[in-house]
Amino acid sequence: MKSLETLVNMRSSLEIKAIILGTVSGLAAVGIAFAAGEIIRPKAQPQPRPPSSLAEKSAIPPADTPEQQGYSLFLLNCAHCHGNDARGDEGPDLHGITKSDARISSIIKNGIKGEMPKFGAKLTDTDVAALIAFVRSLKDS
Ligand code: HEC
Repeated sequence: MKSLETLVNMRSSLEIKAIILGTVSGLAAVGIAFAAGEIIRPKAQPQPRPPSSLAEKSAIPPADTPEQQGYSLFLLNCAHCHGNDARGDEGPDLHGITKSDARISSIIKNGIKGEMPKFGAKLTDTDVAALIAFVRSLKDS
């Protein structure tokens, strides 16, 4: 009788071992899956600033210079066609313009028929000079 009892005990302890083993390996599998998920899941990247705002920033000249005055005038009179960053919109990009100051001055004062309004009546010579200084400050980067 005693030997049968031992046998039963042995069997049940084997079963318990099997259950424990099963549970442990199950947990390990969950753990591995979780770890893999951690590795594979891409980390949230901070959104890069849109290039347009960077370009706009680079078009803003230092304060208290003719270029800065020109930039203010540009935002009021020209930006809706040439873009806030002077990179062009309806009007062309003004970066790296090769025309002479006299030619630019004439374009601003007299306009371009059917393309660009004339500003001769609205802007003073100082204003036009400031606008040219601003256009010249635009680096063709
Ligand atoms: C109504 C839209 C409009 C406004 C406002 C405007 N422009 Fe223009 N501008 C144009 C267009 C369009 C052209 C191109 C015309 C062409 O190529 O025939 C142009 C051409 C020019 C050019 C010659 C560019 C080149 O490479 O030949 C200069 C310089 C210029 N604009 C400066 C200015 C300035 C400075 C102001 C503000 C005082 C201004 N524009 C306002 C539309 C505009």
